[in-house]
Amino acid sequence: MTKEREISLLERVVSLCKRRGFVYQGSEIYGGLAGTWDYGPMGVRLKNTITKLWWKTFVDDRSDMYGIDAAILMNANVWKAVGHVEGFTDPLIECTKCKHRFRADHIRERAEKKMCPTCGGALGDPRQFNMMFETNVGAVRDSSSIAYLRPETAQGIFVNFKNIVDSFHPKLPFGIAQIGKAFRNEITPRDFLFRTREFEQMEIEYFVKENEWEQYFELWRKHVRDWTKSIGLAAKNVHELEVETGDRAHYSKRTIDFEYSFPFGRKELYGLAYRTDFDVRSHAAASSVDLNYQDLDTGERFMPHVIEPSFGLDRTILAVLLESYAEDELGSETRVYLKLPAHLAPVSVAVFPLLKNKPDLVKKARAVFDSLRKQDFAAAFDDNGNIGKRYRRQDEIGTPLCVTVDFTTLEDDTVTVRDRDSGKQERVKLDELTLYIEERIVPA
Ligand code: GAP
Repeated sequence: MTKEREISLLERVVSLCKRRGFVYQGSEIYGGLAGTWDYGPMGVRLKNTITKLWWKTFVDDRSDMYGIDAAILMNANVWKAVGHVEGFTDPLIECTKCKHRFRADHIRERAEKKMCPTCGGALGDPRQFNMMFETNVGAVRDSSSIAYLRPETAQGIFVNFKNIVDSFHPKLPFGIAQIGKAFRNEITPRDFLFRTREFEQMEIEYFVKENEWEQYFELWRKHVRDWTKSIGLAAKNVHELEVETGDRAHYSKRTIDFEYSFPFGRKELYGLAYRTDFDVRSHAAASSVDLNYQDLDTGERFMPHVIEPSFGLDRTILAVLLESYAEDELGSETRVYLKLPAHLAPVSVAVFPLLKNKPDLVKKARAVFDSLRKQDFAAAFDDNGNIGKRYRRQDEIGTPLCVTVDFTTLEDDTVTVRDRDSGKQERVKLDELTLYIEERIVPA
């Protein structure tokens, strides 16, 4: 693909997201709020299918994982302890003429030449800008009431490490997982859902013995790779980058960035880090609480080390949408459709009566729809416009199967089922419909 084509791919996805209720600009009627996006009905469904799959894969289907949901507002000492108040910064550079602000590391060459990429004016000196959003807790606004919106969900896990150990006495290795919002006052939010100021993370802190970290790092590397496959990302678009010492976060001894070939370049999708015992040790020192892990077999007490796979949910959604966006010629018309993996589609099956003004057809179609809904299929009912228009609508939200109730249905209890990708239709008996759908939407 040429660069021109690739840029327009992002624009097409953004436009489809708005048109079909996946993602809207945050606070849109007030001109928006930079770095924020709102998920619409289809976006929420897609988000939910992804988080559900993630939770099942990494928490419910394993016996070594504990799920939590910690508060977003945390004691300011948490962030002091792990160095975020001092060091959770990005290099900021400002143009003295047009006052535009940039991340110095995003415009390296221009920053060296001190020339503004926007107006050509002189750039000032770079300074470190702390990305944490500060707020005050309680009625008094002074330095003692400062709190921060968490910039990563990870710390909610570390401060609950002792709680999980005390409640469940898990044996090493074990992990704690959480899905939740994180906030960063990014200097330059951009590229749609890629870099935002409010986003969601799906994170795991996996506690291991120090001498076993390499083995579990490799295991998690494979788990992350497998996850990208399970959400339909092509292997050719996912890359593993060994992050060099100078570029790693202060807490990490080894990091692999899982990058995705976005239309705007190869960029970080997920991170896998060996955080050593940095966080547990820092919290133990700052809180004066003993956070050593006791091996119940040997009686030995020690600080556990940590492998952290960190998945951005919004970047996942963006990658899945970009990967799925497709255009083709069907029935001599150009159509847009989302070739989503069937198990992620916001709607698994849509049900239509062939004609809206035939009460018998509508009644029967409603009965089919109600029955599918009761069986927990993500079903939709649509009787708006002609069948062609209904197909287009469902294609654009990635619905894998469309069921039409027609006059033959009233005679022999069969329906037509149309496949999203091929456009082919098959006649299926109503009493075989559940199995037919299940075989096509449940991953092998
Ligand atoms: N706990 C480790 C941590 O937060 P990170 O590399 O800063 O590490 C992890 O973030 C993941 O969170 C990223 O790989 C990305 O998927 C997502 N992420 C980070 N900043 C983001 C932003 N501004 N907008 C959207 N997603 C973001």
